[in-house]
Amino acid sequence: MSNTATLEVNGQKHEFPLVTGTENEVAIDVKALRGSTGGVITIDPGYKNTGSCESGITFLDGEKGILRYRGYSIEELAEKADFLEVAYLLIFGELPTKEQHDKFHADIKSKSVVDDDIRKIVDAFPKSAHPMGVLSSLTSALTAFNPSSVNVDSEEDMYNSVVKILGKFPVLVAWTLRKKQGLPLDYGDNSLGYVENVLKMMFKQPNQDYVQNKVIVDALDKLLILHADHEQNCSTSTVRIVGSSHAGLFASLSAGISALWGPLHGGANQAVLEMLEAIREDGGDTKKYMAKAKDKSDPFRLMGFGHRVYKNFDPRAKIIKVAADEVLADLGVEDPILDIAKGLEKEALEDSYFVDRKLYPNVDFYSGIIYRAMGIPTDMFTVMFALGRLPGWIAQWREMRLRKEPIGRPRQLYIGETHRAFKPMNKR
Ligand code: SDX
Repeated sequence: MSNTATLEVNGQKHEFPLVTGTENEVAIDVKALRGSTGGVITIDPGYKNTGSCESGITFLDGEKGILRYRGYSIEELAEKADFLEVAYLLIFGELPTKEQHDKFHADIKSKSVVDDDIRKIVDAFPKSAHPMGVLSSLTSALTAFNPSSVNVDSEEDMYNSVVKILGKFPVLVAWTLRKKQGLPLDYGDNSLGYVENVLKMMFKQPNQDYVQNKVIVDALDKLLILHADHEQNCSTSTVRIVGSSHAGLFASLSAGISALWGPLHGGANQAVLEMLEAIREDGGDTKKYMAKAKDKSDPFRLMGFGHRVYKNFDPRAKIIKVAADEVLADLGVEDPILDIAKGLEKEALEDSYFVDRKLYPNVDFYSGIIYRAMGIPTDMFTVMFALGRLPGWIAQWREMRLRKEPIGRPRQLYIGETHRAFKPMNKR
């Protein structure tokens, strides 16, 4: 194959280099396009055909349903690793040795105390505030208490910022839940594992000890791994573009949380549960909702279905679907909406509308069923997604800064009014 692409504009041919990645994906390098064509640009709403960067963190093949973090398959990591191992892998590029893992965890614990003044910010929110709005605000507030911005060229400074946010973020997640429930804000317990500590901070009742349930610990650890990164999705692209202006790590993460909140993105896990509940209350009439999803005049979408990149099963959804059966059985939870979800999936995968458009269940379709079985309120589901995605966001932000990527500033095609003279108000 030639190593250039030829574009003809107004009768003039222009050659652009082809760049090939380690998985043999090919991109046309159009960095010189505007200069060599006298101002012609590309336009690609939603960036469906446009790469924003070169990255060595996560590879996914949407046609084959492949997902790998730093070359390791998501199936192996979900089965054999723990969340901190995966966080270390994503951020630093290699699986940690036992010593590295233990030091990483110890350093995280040492930085996990949140300034008590942040409690005052939590207190100021109404109980009705959506947890994603609270979490985004508290994450941004961390900057006020940790004003020194990260010197990305200093390995030590970067490492300290990583362990600081990995230590404090779970506290903010727990405080976001406990604010809603009117419970005292709990602090971590450094004698516990990372996920056990998250669960205790979230669920410990003030008047009794918290007893860990291994089924829940293992399920949450697996869910966090499955959510940990996903290349240039909407929220990660947000973290990268905000960080490209050299805004701080916490400010960039806060912006990513806001992007994840949207129901077309991470907010879909909450929307799936609300949809399944609506179907249940409507007598389990899945066919009615399938018809709504296919009706172009109806804004209803089958939430948890479809994906910008996966045109095959989302490998994470396959793992979570199996885990949902196991976790509910282990917890002795009967949840009718699991059967509704499975029925909906079966119907959709036999329906030409979905088959023709290659719409399959995505990561959000089954995850909420497990979160609910674990006692997590529906409007906290996307907060759990953010907890999982945190190491991916950090890794992508760090890569973008270390590669000294330019500030993100897309072009546009202007379609507004051409020049016109100002008209005095009495003449309008
Ligand atoms: C996440 O990008 C990532 O990696 C994200 C993520 C991550 O880990 O970061 O994987 C997490 O965000 C998963 C997606 C969660 N969102 C949902 O489940 C919301 C429901 N899904 C859709 O809104 C949609 O599928 C998107 C937003 C996920 C993808 O939309 P695209 O790629 O812009 O595709 P599209 O809207 O152009 O749809 C193509 C066609 C259209 O029909 P036609 O115009 O061709 O007739 O498929 C239809 C759409 O109407 N379609 C759906 C549908 N999804 C797409 N029709 C009904 N129900 C759906 N869910």
